[in-house]
Amino acid sequence: MWSVKQMHRKFFKNFLSRSVRLGMLSLIYLSIPAIAQDTSNLPDGPGKDKVATACSGCHDLGQATGQHQSAERWADIVSVMVNYGAPVTDSDFSTVVRYLATNFGPDGAAAQSKPASPH
Ligand code: HEC
Repeated sequence: MWSVKQMHRKFFKNFLSRSVRLGMLSLIYLSIPAIAQDTSNLPDGPGKDKVATACSGCHDLGQATGQHQSAERWADIVSVMVNYGAPVTDSDFSTVVRYLATNFGPDGAAAQSKPASPH
């Protein structure tokens, strides 16, 4: 039979490690949606949802939206990302490329908000 003291110690040991584990779990659960749902800097338009889901899995969306590329360059980049494993189907490919080229192209709205780069 355990003494009351031993039971007490056992209880606190279990209780404490459980709350630490719970705390870590909730940290993970809280941070995943924070990353996945950061679409605030994506302009509205056809393909937005596809880009938001397909391009945020491995890196920040900002990795893509920080760039200003021509449609050809975006097609190259998206192909590379698909090779890495980005979930873009063949039928979504042109939608995704068009969305990126429209909103993050060399003359896109996002490009105009930054100082013109010397060409
Ligand atoms: C399967 C993982 C994965 C997904 C999903 C993904 N990427 Fe990437 N991306 C990477 C990796 C890894 C790198 C860094 C390697 C590199 O720079 O070539 C990268 C780098 C980039 C870069 C920087 C490349 C450069 O040359 O500066 C851009 C732009 C980019 N990704 C855009 C996108 C877009 C757009 C999508 C959605 C279609 C996407 N990524 C989805 C893995 C991914």
